[in-house]
Amino acid sequence: MRIAVVGKGGAGKSVVAGTMARLLARGGDKVLALDSDPIPGLAISLGLGPLDTPMLLDAVEKDDNGRWRLKKGIGAARAVQRYSLVGPDGVRLLQFGKTTASGLKDFMGSVNGFYQVVHRLARDDSLSGWTIVGDLPAGPRQTAFDWVPYADKLVLVVEPTWQSILTARRIARISRQRSGVEVVAFGNKLREDGDTDLIEERLGERLGGSLPFDPLVAEADAHGKALIDHAPDSPAVHAIEHLIDAISRRKVSA
Ligand SMILES: Nc1ncnc2c1ncn2[C@@H]1O[C@H](COP(=O)(O)OP(=O)(O)O)[C@@H](O)[C@H]1O
Ligand SMILES: [Mg+2]
Repeated sequence: MRIAVVGKGGAGKSVVAGTMARLLARGGDKVLALDSDPIPGLAISLGLGPLDTPMLLDAVEKDDNGRWRLKKGIGAARAVQRYSLVGPDGVRLLQFGKTTASGLKDFMGSVNGFYQVVHRLARDDSLSGWTIVGDLPAGPRQTAFDWVPYADKLVLVVEPTWQSILTARRIARISRQRSGVEVVAFGNKLREDGDTDLIEERLGERLGGSLPFDPLVAEADAHGKALIDHAPDSPAVHAIEHLIDAISRRKVSA
């Protein structure tokens, strides 16, 4: 399974991506979590705590034209093996780093390296046995600019708010222009019975699953902990288990 999680800012992408990665790893998958959001999120949801590190700085160099490229001998598998960090349940995290006040110039090397790694990942077979879960920044930008060539499924996280639904509609439209990618919409922070209908009607498509609003999610966040560590039996974790079932079933039936 190769998933990327998309949606509006604050929709719950990082919580969904991080918890999915942990659950899939517990189920026996080798899981690579990919974070291409310059804003913190996935490392915390995975249980690694806040982590700014631009992981691919040592993987890149500048060519004669001043463009960043991966150093000789660094393909997708080696980049993952050498530069990713192993977290709880054995999930490996590769991130391009977080924007901080200092060092944007160097940080760009890691960003460029990351873009090249995900493209190699999509092309070569060396990680074919791995499950990939990508966490993307808010909005349709990265989907439009081909940051997720590895994904065969886009999980579109949608809250029952107009802004979230309008963003989701744009992302769904842009993503479907890429052939071969299946877009599955998940409702999040649902509070009322009518919320599923409301999202489906305004989004113009059926939801592949949904998560309730769950105060334990915000509580985990406030403690800087992974949801699955803070509240393993919470309604949200159980809902994410169902989401994994739902999308793996879709894979079989596809
Ligand atoms: N199902 C939920 N119930 C309650 N709060 C949620 C839920 N999902 C996410 N949140 C909260 O919403 C905020 C945004 O979640 P996050 O995963 O960081 O979103 P994104 O990565 O899309 O920006 C966080 O404070 C998180 O705790
Ligand atoms: Mg996030």
